[in-house]
Amino acid sequence: MNVNELKVGLIGGTGEEGRGLALRWALAGARVSIGSRTVERAKSTADELNELLGSRAGSSFQRIGNGENRDVIAGSQFVLLTVPFAHAASTLEAHREHFQEGSILIDITVPVSFEKGGVRYVELPEGSASEHLKARLPEGIPLVAAFKTEPAHLLAEIGEPLDCDSFVASDSKEAKARVIEAIGFIKGLRAVDAGMLYSARTLERMTVLAIGINRRNKIKSARYRVIGL
Ligand SMILES: NC(=O)c1ccc[n+]([C@@H]2O[C@H](COP(=O)([O-])OP(=O)(O)OC[C@H]3O[C@@H](n4cnc5c(N)ncnc54)[C@H](OP(=O)(O)O)[C@@H]3O)[C@@H](O)[C@H]2O)c1
Repeated sequence: MNVNELKVGLIGGTGEEGRGLALRWALAGARVSIGSRTVERAKSTADELNELLGSRAGSSFQRIGNGENRDVIAGSQFVLLTVPFAHAASTLEAHREHFQEGSILIDITVPVSFEKGGVRYVELPEGSASEHLKARLPEGIPLVAAFKTEPAHLLAEIGEPLDCDSFVASDSKEAKARVIEAIGFIKGLRAVDAGMLYSARTLERMTVLAIGINRRNKIKSARYRVIGL
């Protein structure tokens, strides 16, 4: 795979996590598109990110495109679901017919609640957000859980090294291998095969752990690295 053939679309890419991932993949040279429920928000976010990249990275990046979620889904090989978990299932259901054959959904959602000053994992009958969402996809579109533990704050700080691992889990070996290869283009991220989609149960809880570590230590970028790999 050549990085400039890589088409990445972000559903709800106007948010914090989506913006950071868009920046990092655009820096790598991938063709990234920010999706939104409104064209105006998609465009203003893409304009803002392109300006940031232009001022910080010179000409060594691929300009970020934009569109309504439906168009971004239809035009991307790798579709990232970057909306809050509470709206993830309804968003997928609304866009079932826009997924193209051969595309892969990358689910980054983590079901969390912030109550009484603490952060809690929201338990789901299926065990994880990724397993819950898999059933909402059209047949033939594989779901890969990834980017669950990368902090949005750090992703957006493009001058800062990511310097961490990116855990990837899926029941589709082929889709997982393609996502691992695609993540490999992002500087400072090492993709680690985390096994079957069942592992999303652990990965999502690791995010909650990292948020707690951030809060207790008054930092923003707690993340993970496997030692000995
Ligand atoms: N923040 C982190 O560090 C982090 C780390 C790992 C994983 N995650 C996961 O990444 C996902 C995105 O997080 P975030 O902090 O970027 O979220 P966010 O900024 O709150 O929201 C992202 C985007 O979702 C869209 N959205 C909001 N409400 C919606 C609705 N009712 N229906 C459809 N789309 C809606 C919005 O886009 P438009 O209004 O433009 O449509 C919004 O900009 C979450 O599932 C989170 O658990 C976050």
